[in-house]
Amino acid sequence: MSHYFETPDQPADLFEAPMTLWGHEVTLLSSNGVFSARRLDPGTAVLLRTCDPPTGSPRLLDLGCGIGPITCALGLAVPQAQITAIDVNERAVEMTRLNAARLGLGERVTALTPDEVSDDERFDEIWSNPPIRIGKPALHLLLSTWLSRLSPQGRAYLVVARNLGADSLAGWLLDEGWDCQRLGSAKGYRVFRVSVG
Ligand SMILES: C[S@@+](CC[C@H](N)C(=O)[O-])C[C@H]1O[C@@H](n2cnc3c(N)ncnc32)[C@H](O)[C@@H]1O
Repeated sequence: MSHYFETPDQPADLFEAPMTLWGHEVTLLSSNGVFSARRLDPGTAVLLRTCDPPTGSPRLLDLGCGIGPITCALGLAVPQAQITAIDVNERAVEMTRLNAARLGLGERVTALTPDEVSDDERFDEIWSNPPIRIGKPALHLLLSTWLSRLSPQGRAYLVVARNLGADSLAGWLLDEGWDCQRLGSAKGYRVFRVSVG
């Protein structure tokens, strides 16, 4: 049995996953071998419920996109946004690409593995339900790497389960010199806004 954060070996078995994203009722295409394949993850739902979508024409990063619920939510809610969606699970990247295309967002969404993102790309906002289960050192490296790609006024919106170390992660972010505000707490999840301290 592989982890959701590895590209699965088994052939793809595709099915539909209905969900509501900031009021838009959509059906995403999903597959075995990806995170929360059958339904909108409750943590991601708390993130969307807690935060309003951005305005204007921001450059957005969906860090750890899975099948693309956050990317699709942002794409539908922010008509001028350009969204980069990344995941180490290549099947997740493919599903996000497919889902964005099915919703007519294909021209504004670029779904990639992390190593395919060009080094000089910067983002106004990062949105993430980060992969806590990769372990603390890997998670810290992941967040340091991508938070440093925020534009000077940039912000990141993160949702983390309380029982998976949300508060200690917030403490680590503060220790690293980031500003980290708790925006909300519901159903065992914390939502944080992270910006340059
Ligand atoms: C908790 S899931 C969230 C998925 C999706 N955003 C959602 O809300 O349903 C975290 C995702 O991060 C991905 N991931 C793990 N390690 C990663 C890394 N180093 N870089 C980018 N994505 C990673 C996993 O494959 C997984 O799809």
